[in-house]
Amino acid sequence: MKQGKFVVLEGIDGAGTTTQVGRLQRYLEGRGIKSVITREPSDGPIGTIIRNALRGRIRLPDAAGGGELAKETIALLFAADRVDHLRSEILPALERGVWVLSDRYVDSSVAYQGTLIDIDWVMKINRYAVRPDLTFFFDVDVDVALARIDATRVQKDIFEKRELLVRVADGYRKLYAAQLPDVVHLDAGLPIERVYEDLTGAVSRLLLNS
Ligand code: TYD
Repeated sequence: MKQGKFVVLEGIDGAGTTTQVGRLQRYLEGRGIKSVITREPSDGPIGTIIRNALRGRIRLPDAAGGGELAKETIALLFAADRVDHLRSEILPALERGVWVLSDRYVDSSVAYQGTLIDIDWVMKINRYAVRPDLTFFFDVDVDVALARIDATRVQKDIFEKRELLVRVADGYRKLYAAQLPDVVHLDAGLPIERVYEDLTGAVSRLLLNS
């Protein structure tokens, strides 16, 4: 059986990946392609720990100041979640011939954790992350993204702060500076319909070439 394709959507918080991933699934369905939507942090046990940490529900003990978990701890949790996500969900689906559409993946660790701590170490702990067939980079101005976050989120996580998002946006741009055939840049500041057209245009080219 033909393997499914692994497609990843990346960008800073508020870039619009979550909106487009659902639309992409409907587009594929219309072409008779079965896909599953997934995300990182995943919905598995390690991903759940991460979400609790990002929302301040898991903290250091009072005796240690009660602050956020160490950045290294969070980086390792993301890397562990990724291996678990690959083994439990992504690879089995691809083997069944189903496409996997992931809202974030390893490049989120490079862009977020890589701006906060040693980027080479972050890449090293993620060395077993299988490379996607296609990655979409949702490139958007930080203030546009922040306005979207303000309009839609009830609860924000620890990364949704302007200074940090500016650095993360820069991290993504550096990571994708070299134009690679399997990374598609989208102007994610455009209206939803325009972003959708660019996204599906690239996916239909992937379909033609496979
Ligand atoms: P996000 O997709 O924004 O979750 P939600 O929409 O439920 O809030 O992901 C949570 C945050 O985790 C987001 O700010 C990006 C961050 N993140 C990392 O820092 N490193 C990673 O490896 C991943 C996958 C996400």
